[in-house]
Amino acid sequence: MTEDSASRIAADLRDWVATAAPGTRVPSSRALVDRWGASAATVQRAIRLLATEGLVEARPGVGTFVRAVRTARPQDYGWQTTALRSPGVRLPEPSWSMRPTPEGAIGLHAGYPDRELLPERALRAALGRAARSDAVLSRAPVAGLPELRAWFAAELASATPAGVSPPTGGDVLVLPGSQSGLSSIFRALVGAGRPVLVESPTYWGAILAAAQAGVQVVPVASGPAGPDPDDLRRAITETGARAFYAQPVFANPTGAHWSAETRADVLDVVRAHGAFLIEDDWARDFGIDAEPVPVAAHDDAGHVVYVRSLTKSVSPAIRIAAVVARGPARERLLRDGGAASMYVSGLLQAAALDVVTQPAWTRHLRHLGPQLRARRDLLVSAVREHVPDAHLEHVPAGGLNLWLRLPDGVEPRAFARACEAAGVLVAPGTEWFPAEPAGPYVRLNYSGPDPGAFAEGARRIGAVLAGTG
Ligand SMILES: Cc1ncc(COP(=O)(O)O)c(C=O)c1O
Repeated sequence: MTEDSASRIAADLRDWVATAAPGTRVPSSRALVDRWGASAATVQRAIRLLATEGLVEARPGVGTFVRAVRTARPQDYGWQTTALRSPGVRLPEPSWSMRPTPEGAIGLHAGYPDRELLPERALRAALGRAARSDAVLSRAPVAGLPELRAWFAAELASATPAGVSPPTGGDVLVLPGSQSGLSSIFRALVGAGRPVLVESPTYWGAILAAAQAGVQVVPVASGPAGPDPDDLRRAITETGARAFYAQPVFANPTGAHWSAETRADVLDVVRAHGAFLIEDDWARDFGIDAEPVPVAAHDDAGHVVYVRSLTKSVSPAIRIAAVVARGPARERLLRDGGAASMYVSGLLQAAALDVVTQPAWTRHLRHLGPQLRARRDLLVSAVREHVPDAHLEHVPAGGLNLWLRLPDGVEPRAFARACEAAGVLVAPGTEWFPAEPAGPYVRLNYSGPDPGAFAEGARRIGAVLAGTG
């Protein structure tokens, strides 16, 4: 029996408790087991859930009883308003794409791949092995497990051409997910009050991390083939920025993929201006029609600070990423990371390392591309058929998302709310723009659960757009 069954039983029990008088005895476990056909452990889990919510209380040896309802007295937290004063930085609410999908709705808004796209078997086995190893009881080194650092370095080295000195494990720092890495990079390498250039549109989490670090975000327009290097050069000269955050490979949200020429030109620009390229290689494992080649593979002079995450390809529960940086920049990041989180759980690092070094990992990635292609093509056809008034500017060669332009005049957040009411979740594009949006967009993710529902999802989106949803 799963957590889901326990939650369902708890939901039923909650309804029952709502109508029961305080002190009423909850039916015995055996009665509940018979009623739901669930295991005793699942029923116990459901009852424990209600107990944590304060709805029932267990009296050992006697039974479980409905608790008396406590009168809700509104608390006055007003004193905190004066104590806290205005926030230095007012951070936005969590992204729309992090919302849970309501039961029965079609979720195209989230950014995380469905479990059928994850190496579940290999991960469960790896966690079992990690649980039996010393990792359970030991503290990992501040920079990360040496073997995992060596693996991240070898991955980048495998794309490094002859003549460029490849990174080593010594250049790698393991992170608890790349989100915290972005915060650390903006804080430690850019610094509060200083400018950082970012592609527009760009990942909302990077905009958030920059805001948290107090750095000033300066947008540079970026299309399906990346930014115009001349634009970048002008922006660096005008602002004096010494860092450019970008996703050269299958960008989130647009799926943009830089050509070899753009990669080389951008590297030339940052080199010429003594600047950093902060390369977020989040989609390294999600190639469909193109082979991902990071810009970092062509840099051995420390200009590219390279971020690679395993969160989406291994599991959202294994929050492991790494930054590859050389020279004093690496040292600054090491100290900043140490101050923020000391070290990353060795257990998670050991499990991640186990997964990515098994032959099953290579097989998994070989199958992942065709699976993503089938899902992408399904959603593209569904959108073209059912949402003819929207414009799909670009079919991405990799990544997890479609970036759909809505007709002018449609407000993306209001549109996303209307879609939600129609039982389909889309992510309003507004969040991916560091300044005013260049147009009304929504992001649709094709890696979520139940691709069989893509056509119905697109039909509902089309109906909302046509004003009949
Ligand atoms: C472009 C990009 N960078 C970084 C991240 C964050 O990665 P992590 O989950 O490792 O923190 C995401 C997650 O959505 C992303 O899309």
